[in-house]
Amino acid sequence: MIERGNPLKTRIFHPETEKNAIAEAAEIIRGGGLLGIPTETVYGLGANALNEEAVKAIFEAKGRPQDNPLIIHVPSADWLERYCKDVPAVAYALARRFWPGPLTMILPRRENVPLRTTGGLETVGVRCPDHPLTLAIIEAAGVPIAAPSGNTSGRPSPTTAQHMIEDMDGKIDGIVDGGPCAVGVESTIVDLTVTPPRLLRPGGLPLESLREVLGEVAVDKAVTQKLGDRERPRAPGMKYRHYAPKAPVTVVTGDPERSAAYIRGQLEPNDGVICFDEYAGDFAGHIIHKLGPAADRLAQARHVFDALRTFDATDVSHIYAQCPDDAGLGLAVGNRLKKAAGFHVVDAGKRPLVIGLTGPTGAGKTSALAALERLGGCILDCDAVYHEMLRTDEGLRRDITEAFGDVFDERGLNRQKLGSIVFADPEALERLNAVIYARLVPALRQRVYASAAPIVGIDAINLFESGLDRLCRRTVGLLAPAEVRIRRIMARDGISEEYARLRVEAQKGEDFYRAHCTDILVNDAASAAEFENKAYAFFCHMIKQIKEESNHE
Ligand code: TXA
Ligand code: MG
Repeated sequence: MIERGNPLKTRIFHPETEKNAIAEAAEIIRGGGLLGIPTETVYGLGANALNEEAVKAIFEAKGRPQDNPLIIHVPSADWLERYCKDVPAVAYALARRFWPGPLTMILPRRENVPLRTTGGLETVGVRCPDHPLTLAIIEAAGVPIAAPSGNTSGRPSPTTAQHMIEDMDGKIDGIVDGGPCAVGVESTIVDLTVTPPRLLRPGGLPLESLREVLGEVAVDKAVTQKLGDRERPRAPGMKYRHYAPKAPVTVVTGDPERSAAYIRGQLEPNDGVICFDEYAGDFAGHIIHKLGPAADRLAQARHVFDALRTFDATDVSHIYAQCPDDAGLGLAVGNRLKKAAGFHVVDAGKRPLVIGLTGPTGAGKTSALAALERLGGCILDCDAVYHEMLRTDEGLRRDITEAFGDVFDERGLNRQKLGSIVFADPEALERLNAVIYARLVPALRQRVYASAAPIVGIDAINLFESGLDRLCRRTVGLLAPAEVRIRRIMARDGISEEYARLRVEAQKGEDFYRAHCTDILVNDAASAAEFENKAYAFFCHMIKQIKEESNHE
């Protein structure tokens, strides 16, 4: 037994440059010492699994509750029979497919595995890690290595040697630097002693992969929910809050656009955000940590613990985290985030169906919008949003002033003054539109996703010129014969036929809408009420179509 002074001198091994590193590291294990080992999931705090004293030291160094069992690491499935009994055939099938790799199997233990290691259980977790250095160290030591994640209990698991040094320097004999972990979340744990097999902890191997080999796999309640005080999870470690940052954490699930919009709506100046890479720009001015691209769950797994750790060094008052859905590695990433949040989770909901509406005046837009509202749609009127922004959005006011001089007075935008600049000069008008659209599109995007409605209609004359069409799943051009429109405008606005005619002629022709819109709705109804019903049927049909398309996607 190595003499355990306090503090110890922790030796850092760099096996790629040190010739004897593997042999010397194995010697620490054989001598009953503690060694930080790299694996593909997270770094582990290893000791000889068969040596009770060494195992006891693991619990002490980590500050880990004694009833929380350790898993043992073996170099191949050939060692299963040595430490487990009644090994079912599926264990070998899993090992063939996924070992070495991020999968831990719970099996009945043999007597030679001390109860100290298994936390008093008659079962033992076994895993073959996918890291050449650690496999070599186990082979050289000739004994299985018991290793929990190498963090102090309650802290995020370490994914670099540096993290391990932060938590364990002076407490253990050595740390083997094997580079950053490729997977970043711990192994998937499946209990093979029950029927059907049960997922105890989601991890680096997706549940879907397990099901390919095992068929039915039950998911333990502790994976998705906070357990009651009296409930005991099957993996004792799942009852502990993994990592509790100083600041409270809120996890926001749902479509990434929705979760980003939700978080933007909640953020106070001193709050921090864990977000997908694409949304980093939405949280400018806040301390953020990027989780990886929304679609790249492996990147998210790699970053999740680091993201949580980073906030330790800040004084944010609240942390909001975007969360992937449960597919693939998303189940493990979400589980780690939710545990850090004490399962404080908000569902921001599904992405709404966004329909753009455009067309010339007098075509019956009001009735069409009413029909969409009857279907549960929320209408965003671009013109109204623009006018509101002119009053309240400092950025827009600044941009306009920079481009066109001081066109605001105490009553707001001086339209005459701005009009005299832009209506005489087509280039100036184009510049003005560019300035407006650059602010308007993000503002509308924010409103689209912050609204809880399942359907959002964007009402915009310049749907295409502004680029708002890119937010829309469908774009509907509302058309009506010119003569009908002239009569409607005359009646509606109380103007002469001549003037109404001029206005209609000044607008874009039907061809524009037929060329750009995904759908055309012609108002040839005799009354507004009749057209509203026609529009209602039209949108019903469209929504049904989109649902069918989504089912095929
Ligand atoms: O990826 C990993 O699994 C990492 C690396 C180092 O291999 N290790 C790791 O160990 O995450 P640890 O101790 O942090 O997590 C192991 C989990 C704990 O929640 C523990 O309660 C559970 O496995 N466990 C261990 N033995 C068990 C058993 N016999 N039955 C049920 N759960 C068990
Ligand atoms: Mg752990």
